[in-house]
Amino acid sequence: MYKLALISGDGIGPEISKAAKSVIQLIHNMYDVKFEIIDVEAGDSVLKNNEKALPDLSFKVIKNSDVCMKAPIGESAADVIVYLRRMLDLYANIRPSKNYPNIRALKDDIDLVIVRENTEDVYAGLEYDFENASIAIRLTTKKASTRIAEYAFKLAKFRNKKKSVVSVHKANLLRKTDGLFSTTCREISKKYTDIQFSDMYVDACAMNLIRNPENFDVIVTTNLFGDILSDEAAQVVGSLGIAPAANIGDNFAIFEPVHGSAPDIAGKGIANPLSMILSVRMMLDWLAMKNNDNKCVDAAQKIEDAVTKVLAKGIKTPDIGGNNKTEDVTNTILTELRSTQ
Ligand code: NAI
Ligand code: MG
Repeated sequence: MYKLALISGDGIGPEISKAAKSVIQLIHNMYDVKFEIIDVEAGDSVLKNNEKALPDLSFKVIKNSDVCMKAPIGESAADVIVYLRRMLDLYANIRPSKNYPNIRALKDDIDLVIVRENTEDVYAGLEYDFENASIAIRLTTKKASTRIAEYAFKLAKFRNKKKSVVSVHKANLLRKTDGLFSTTCREISKKYTDIQFSDMYVDACAMNLIRNPENFDVIVTTNLFGDILSDEAAQVVGSLGIAPAANIGDNFAIFEPVHGSAPDIAGKGIANPLSMILSVRMMLDWLAMKNNDNKCVDAAQKIEDAVTKVLAKGIKTPDIGGNNKTEDVTNTILTELRSTQ
């Protein structure tokens, strides 16, 4: 039995969490991967009656669980997810983008992953005010650069696709911080002779993601650049609404969509649940790896297949050109999952 802490979030968060919960419940009932879901409060809604967006009790429950899933949070996202990433040392943020059937993308044959350093950069929370000026400190350490580079090369090897890692930075301007990141990635690349390695400045990468996204395999980058490029990569394959993510540390992980709380469509029943459902898939893959649990491998693949089939049938929310509701997509996925058992 896996103890799963679930943050339902703000905006469209509760709508897509409901979808994820029903998928997890079905996996629990039909695929023999057992979950105990523990609802955890965090976010803007909690701030109304609480001093902290992430109450101490919520943090404790998350820490004592086996894994966490999180729907998007609104304005207090930094106090919840950025805090959790740093406190739990979830140093690798993994953000895949690939084509799915019936979703209009800029190109075909896109299958890339952004590996974003998740604990440093300007997210270290070191900002100061002076008279009429403010500064933010950008932190880069050898340790964090080494472990994220190692993660990226291991992932490229494991994926066994184009076997390439591109290190993305702005070392021509940020000579110290990105200089350290870039030289560290290059150093680590020497250990992985079967993986092609290259550097790319972040501005060129932003352009190349549109010009030839199909050329990328694994992109390793610093925190802020990874944040920005992953929204771009999600739209290149169709929508933020299909973009899942994982925050991975040595012993714990949190899975969440790439996007935010989408206040412009909240409450309308049209949020794409696939970002959250594909995050469930990523969670199952991680549980499989961590616990050597083959049932999780199987369940993860079933989710991927069900998503692909439902999209092939043209059941889609408006962000990807359809006219279905969140519930239609979720229910069709559940039906698909039931039929393949
Ligand atoms: P956003 O990612 O919420 O929305 C950007 C655009 O994508 C909107 O047009 C939205 O409707 C669309 N979109 C996002 N997810 C979708 C889905 N599942 N289905 C269909 N369309 C979807 O970015 P925005 O508007 O800049 O931020 C809104 C709030 O989210 C802010 O308060 C921000 O702080 C927070 N945020 C939280 C994050 C987190 O919890 N990890 C990450 C990013 C933003
Ligand atoms: Mg972001």
